Amino acid sequence: MATLPSGNRDSFSSKFGVIAAAAGSAVGLGNIWRFPLVTTQNGGGAFLLLYVGFIIFIGIPVMLSEFSIGRRAQLNAFGSFKKLAPKTPWYLVGSLGIITAFAILSFYSAVAGWTLEYLVQSLTGKLLHTDDLVKNFSDFSSNPYRPVVWQLVIMTITGLVVYGGIKKGIEKFTKILMPVLAILIAFVVIRSVTLPGAMKGVRYLFIPDWSVVNFKTVLMALGQAAFSLSVGMGTLITYGSYIQKDNHLLKTASQVAFTDTFIAILASLMVIPAIFAFSVGSIDQMSPGPGLVFEVLPLVFKAMPGGVVFAVIFFFLLCVAALTSTISVLEVVVAYLKEELGFSRGKATLIASVSISVLGVLATLSFGVLSGFHIIGKTIFGLLDFASANIMLTFGALLIVVFVGWKLKKENFLDEISNGAKLKSSLYRVVFFIIKYIAPVAIGIIAVAALFIKGIT
Ligand code: PHE
Repeated sequence: MATLPSGNRDSFSSKFGVIAAAAGSAVGLGNIWRFPLVTTQNGGGAFLLLYVGFIIFIGIPVMLSEFSIGRRAQLNAFGSFKKLAPKTPWYLVGSLGIITAFAILSFYSAVAGWTLEYLVQSLTGKLLHTDDLVKNFSDFSSNPYRPVVWQLVIMTITGLVVYGGIKKGIEKFTKILMPVLAILIAFVVIRSVTLPGAMKGVRYLFIPDWSVVNFKTVLMALGQAAFSLSVGMGTLITYGSYIQKDNHLLKTASQVAFTDTFIAILASLMVIPAIFAFSVGSIDQMSPGPGLVFEVLPLVFKAMPGGVVFAVIFFFLLCVAALTSTISVLEVVVAYLKEELGFSRGKATLIASVSISVLGVLATLSFGVLSGFHIIGKTIFGLLDFASANIMLTFGALLIVVFVGWKLKKENFLDEISNGAKLKSSLYRVVFFIIKYIAPVAIGIIAVAALFIKGIT
């Protein structure tokens, strides 16, 4: 199939821009509030080795599948499937991606909003003067107004960046903020690992303990790798459609995966040694997510000399990590509304942001006034989180690799990633083999297991 020229379609202007945007999507709350604890609790270095193996052998091929679909079709996630597989039901995979984006953003923006509240609480000094941090979090998250306001602030910032377009919005924003994020994390890492007693945490993090590794741990490593790379819902198809035709896609995917993994490891070095240094509790009893960042880490900041500064930096960087992910998810929906339904970028951004916010507010309120409202035993937030992160993303990733391996076919895939045979690498065939045979089996196993085993993805 002939590839269309980029024409007047907006696109990333530089290689660094592509990496900043895609790594911005990948580096998110998952890297900071989940990866460090999940790694430490599940065999440290052993989990890390499994994780890195999955990133290289499954994550990069899936990411490359998404980039190649998007860049070949030069369209949004839905339109790409319609164009590359006309008159077949494959466009439904695109529809699934759009729905997943909608669902993920509605709860992810709630959580991103919480980071703003904690930034403000750190700045005003309230956080470090609170004795009961558990109550502080439950009072805040169940409040009917404050979390809603913060969520709307996050959606507004996200909307404004996306409204700016690819070059002038997303690329500009992520090109500035991703380096800032990396520097701030490195700064906190230096403080954390030089605390007295920190080395115990470093050892716990890196020394492999294979005795705790079982089937579930292996699935968790793969699930975390997939979520962390933002694959499975068309974010990278959409971004792929803005990548220029001469970009070396395999190199780009590898650089993005490397950055994401590097930041996850840095985030672990920021969080774990500090927890050990101040002995704020037993690591095995801590739960990843809000409990870690809003209840445990403030104890660390309270105990640390100059803790206010580190608290402010930490919540700021958490918020930046979340925002560079939320913009990538909103762009999935906006590109769809723009290209498939003919709205201008402005209208598409407004419609997408407002409708996602409506669902998002319901998710936020499920910690307070709507906490008694359950659907299949879950609150609205719980259901959106479970359905999108555990089920829709994994099935999405599965269908995407099956599409590339079995429908798009080898010649088209190789043509796309080699830029029309201009680039040569013996790895291309290996990657295609993984996409066709290995990735579907591996992802298929987690997709089924995620339905039954809690805590995998
Ligand atoms: N990768 C992001 C994180 O680690 C989450 C995400 C998933 C963002 C899917 C976009 C799409 O937090």
